[in-house]
Amino acid sequence: MRIDIITIFPDYFTGPLNVSLIGKAAAREDIGFRVHDLRRWATDVHHTVDDTPFGGGPGMVMKPDVWGAAIDSVLSAAGETAPPAAGGPARLVVPTPSGTPFTQDLAATYAAERHLVFACGRYEGIDARVAADARSRMPVDEVSIGDYVLAGGEAAVVVIVEAVCRLLPGVLGNERSAADDSFGGGGGGGGTMRGLLEGPVYTRPRSWRGHEVPPVLLSGDHAAIARWQRDEALRRTAATRPDLIRRLAAVPDGLGDRDRKVLAEAGFPVDAKNMAH
Ligand code: 6GU
Repeated sequence: MRIDIITIFPDYFTGPLNVSLIGKAAAREDIGFRVHDLRRWATDVHHTVDDTPFGGGPGMVMKPDVWGAAIDSVLSAAGETAPPAAGGPARLVVPTPSGTPFTQDLAATYAAERHLVFACGRYEGIDARVAADARSRMPVDEVSIGDYVLAGGEAAVVVIVEAVCRLLPGVLGNERSAADDSFGGGGGGGGTMRGLLEGPVYTRPRSWRGHEVPPVLLSGDHAAIARWQRDEALRRTAATRPDLIRRLAAVPDGLGDRDRKVLAEAGFPVDAKNMAH
């Protein structure tokens, strides 16, 4: 996979992209990262990338001409002038607090792409015509990583890249971990924990500061262990993210009879009344 990142803070990425799983994948060239300084495409002596907003208001808006030139240049350096490259055009991802929520399913969608281009906005955002113009040539996603406001898209890009890269074949090391982690892997396939948060995990020693590892995990009974892990995932999800339980209750086969019993015992009965809100 090829990943281009356009930013006014290229140094921001030198750490995160070179460590851990992502760093190893980059070293193996499973992922090719290129980080570009947006100011390269500024045309005045001060390398200006922003201007005052039409209509007034606080802050500054990033200039469309600079962003347009940057995106064109990054695409053509990747051999992506019309007609689109084999495997389809790149996808442009613009992190913004006003975007659609970034989810595990979206991470799986991105992991299947050949080429992602990230456009990091700062200040009050990028002139809206940049995304509109890019949409005539490529898929464009404006995505948010949560309900809070960051100073710029850089931290969000690190989050998104990490979520995507750990889904690439060979990056995680243990392919099974992605299917069983919280949200159950995403991407339509889905492990046994799809739509749930992962429950507690334990390692040695069996007894630590008077706290014991749950005996079922030492039983060797794999069916009992799997059932216990699902029960714990249901209880934890009900306690911290009841919205996820309601979502699961609304899909066919999202919850089984045993799941409903466990939830009822946890004080979270799932029935038609409960699903209304
Ligand atoms: Cl993707 N960008 C910025 N600047 N702030 C955010 C965000 C993204 N997601 C949540 N807050």
